Amino acid sequence: MDSQLAKPKSRFPSVVVGVIVLVSLVISLWAGYYYYETSNPYIKEVLALKGDANRGYQIFQINCAACHGKEADGVVGPSLHYVSKRKSYIDLIDQVTSGKTPPMPKFQPDGQTMADLLEYLHNL
Ligand code: HEC
Repeated sequence: MDSQLAKPKSRFPSVVVGVIVLVSLVISLWAGYYYYETSNPYIKEVLALKGDANRGYQIFQINCAACHGKEADGVVGPSLHYVSKRKSYIDLIDQVTSGKTPPMPKFQPDGQTMADLLEYLHNL
């Protein structure tokens, strides 16, 4: 009788412990990723600068409009309207500078230019 009662009692905490371990693992991985990205000096520099959307627009026309369209409504590359709702600034910087999704090339804009582009993308 005693052992039958004890069984469900002893299983419950191990499930809870499992969930807690999993949740803390996810949180620490996310925190580690966030720390890694924000400690990147280039990203830090870009995020600290104030962008100019007009200059961003001009840079976009020269470098990006051939693929994304003059008003960023998509040609070879996708429309970028509301892109800043889908992607964080860190993800946008990564998208522009990594070259991880060919045929989009890898760009290496200086910090101010990247900040201007972000400001333009943010307002689409
Ligand atoms: C040679 C064509 C080309 C050029 C030039 C180009 N892109 Fe792209 N871009 C693409 C393609 C194709 C994708 C889709 C990649 C994928 O997700 O597979 C893309 C994706 C993106 C995305 C992600 C969109 C989303 O919905 O997640 C952003 C942001 C972006 N480009 C910004 C830029 C900016 C800013 C420039 C100029 C500095 C630029 N691109 C220049 C082709 C291009």
